[in-house]
Amino acid sequence: MSLQAEEASAFAPASVGNIGVGFDLLGHAIEGPRDVAHVRRIDAPEVRIEAIGGEVAGASAIPLDAARNTAGAALLALREALRPPFGFALRIDKGIPLGSGLGGSAASCVAALVAANALLDAPLPREALYPFALDGESVSSGSRHGDNVAPMLLGGAVLATPTRLLRLPAPGWLHAVVVHPDQVLETRRSRAVLAAPYPLHEIVEHGAHLAQFVLGLERGDPELLRAGLRDILVEPRRAGLIPGFARVKQAALDHGALGASISGGGPSVFAWFDSRAAAQAAAPAMRQGFLDAGFDARAYVSPVAAQAATLLPSSPEPAPDRSSHNRSTHLPHGTDAPLPSTGEGVG
Ligand code: HSE
Repeated sequence: MSLQAEEASAFAPASVGNIGVGFDLLGHAIEGPRDVAHVRRIDAPEVRIEAIGGEVAGASAIPLDAARNTAGAALLALREALRPPFGFALRIDKGIPLGSGLGGSAASCVAALVAANALLDAPLPREALYPFALDGESVSSGSRHGDNVAPMLLGGAVLATPTRLLRLPAPGWLHAVVVHPDQVLETRRSRAVLAAPYPLHEIVEHGAHLAQFVLGLERGDPELLRAGLRDILVEPRRAGLIPGFARVKQAALDHGALGASISGGGPSVFAWFDSRAAAQAAAPAMRQGFLDAGFDARAYVSPVAAQAATLLPSSPEPAPDRSSHNRSTHLPHGTDAPLPSTGEGVG
């Protein structure tokens, strides 16, 4: 009898795509919101999505057709490449709101890949899942960018080119505040405002920011990060899509942020701080910026070096109460509620 597990579950964390200065290239994971995928081996050589749950806005509208679903498309790509003699049945618990700028579509596909990979007779290294994650991500966003799926796969901050993943060092003192307002901004819409032209002098200035930022991470130098964490290309074109953005960013800078910008395609806003205490102090003020603009919001404080997608302890039964799971993933505003427990190992 095979000892191979028949079922596995994994979570994938939310992420801050772009990190302001690295459009489609940089991203980091955050603690707090997460999607969970439960994957089961089935005899039929297919990918079947059995259920999508979770109390996040828009969850009920996510397609169950595997080819039109980010997680389904990723597993189809995995199957197409590896041709295992079995298929996958998938259930998804959404904890990351769609259209939030927190990598909600990417997380489902990364969680599904990590769980399905554990069911293979010869599981792949994490980096090898990247092309399949890009296949999944492109279903929802229309573009193969890795700035969300990459940090979910590897954890922490990552530089993701179309063919390469490079983990960037993130010092332990570096913390992010991410504020998610009750607004929805579809990635396709926030990408539509990015049309050229981009004057050459702006490209050069941007290059200087990006270089200082990456060196700042490499050296653990907060002043280089402060010099580099500025988005002069994308943020000015998208800011008008996010009511309250300017107030939230200003609140972060007033509290000593190293920099602040739009998380992914928005509307969430993030800021980096040189200590956890500074981030905790800024979080309520940043949230207040959205409240003042007329939108409720949740604030999360997380180390930049946050955990990657992770297998959960064997859970063959469906989670009986998905709403309690989802509550546990949403930190109270501006505080440091503990993460739900996680673990490695299957079956
Ligand atoms: N890099 C992407 C963007 C993230 O900014 O459009 C959203 O998927």
